[in-house]
Amino acid sequence: MVRKQKSKGRFLDEGAAKEELTELTKKIRENDELYYLKDSPSLSDAEYDALRKRLIFIENKFPHLIVADSPSQTVGVAPAEAFSKVRHGQPMLSLSNAFSKEDVVGFVSKVKRFIGVDECSEVQFLAEPKIDGLSAALRYENGVFVQGATRGDGLVGEDVTANLATISDIPKSLEGNFDSAVLEVRGEVYMAREDFLQLNVDRERNGDEQFSNPRNAAAGGLRQLDPKITAQRKLKFFAYGYGELRKGGADFSLGTTLLEVRERFVELGFILNEPCRMSASIEELLEYYDKIVVERPSLPMDLDGVVYKVNDLALQARLGAVPRSPRRAKAQKFPA
Ligand code: IVH
Repeated sequence: MVRKQKSKGRFLDEGAAKEELTELTKKIRENDELYYLKDSPSLSDAEYDALRKRLIFIENKFPHLIVADSPSQTVGVAPAEAFSKVRHGQPMLSLSNAFSKEDVVGFVSKVKRFIGVDECSEVQFLAEPKIDGLSAALRYENGVFVQGATRGDGLVGEDVTANLATISDIPKSLEGNFDSAVLEVRGEVYMAREDFLQLNVDRERNGDEQFSNPRNAAAGGLRQLDPKITAQRKLKFFAYGYGELRKGGADFSLGTTLLEVRERFVELGFILNEPCRMSASIEELLEYYDKIVVERPSLPMDLDGVVYKVNDLALQARLGAVPRSPRRAKAQKFPA
């Protein structure tokens, strides 16, 4: 049987879908290599998002064409050879994206369906700015910062401990009793816009190539073999989540909700991304998005969207994850 699906006003048969998926995968992979390994992508974020959107659209029409190593099923790229490797205790996933109000409505409905409550029931979401940087995992043993890694392909990242140790926002030891504890804090390394502009002025003066945006400058700064160069880049860090949490051989928690976890993070000495908002309805989530769109130019760092996260950690655990991203959260991206 020949399968045909209407796409962009024309019919896409299975052969054409396969061909287009191969082409899209090639372009996405090429850009991923440049983005994650060379910190200098050839496509704009909007062009890249459009490729991924098209790939997911075709895969949804022809689900049997989804392969295990499709960009829709995987995260980032394998770590560069220049760095030692760190295997993450728990995978570092990415976020699925919403590009419209309808996508946000779909996300909230899906969460409610999945946890088995009706559409009218309230589920609390925490909304946060999505800062355009690169994710890092910080491992603390007995309350002391011992290892830091990039996300890499989500399973294995690059060991950038010495570089992360130069960032003053990252506590080197934690307040409180963490004897025989392992605590992994995850968050975003980024560069403030002002520091990015100054860096490019300095680079121009020295005849060095300019960075195209603060994200690439931050990634280039963190993925240095010499931590002295990282230290000059004035990188910043905010905490958005956690990985392994073990004390005396047993799991422990930082709270029962994300809001409580955020409070714990502050007590431990971490900086959070603001402004955040608790929302119990789609209208409130969309209001938050509109507010951030207005405030965006006056914030000190570049954002590429906002993130909505289920606040209750027990619900988060029930929601689980699909290969690339957890069901508990969604990023709503800004338009190009
Ligand atoms: S939560 C499963 N919160 O965006 C990953 N991520 O596009 C949960 N990011 O990999 C991440 N701001 O590097 C989260 N407030 C925020 C964020 C944020 C930026 C980054 C993070 C993530 C990427 C996904």
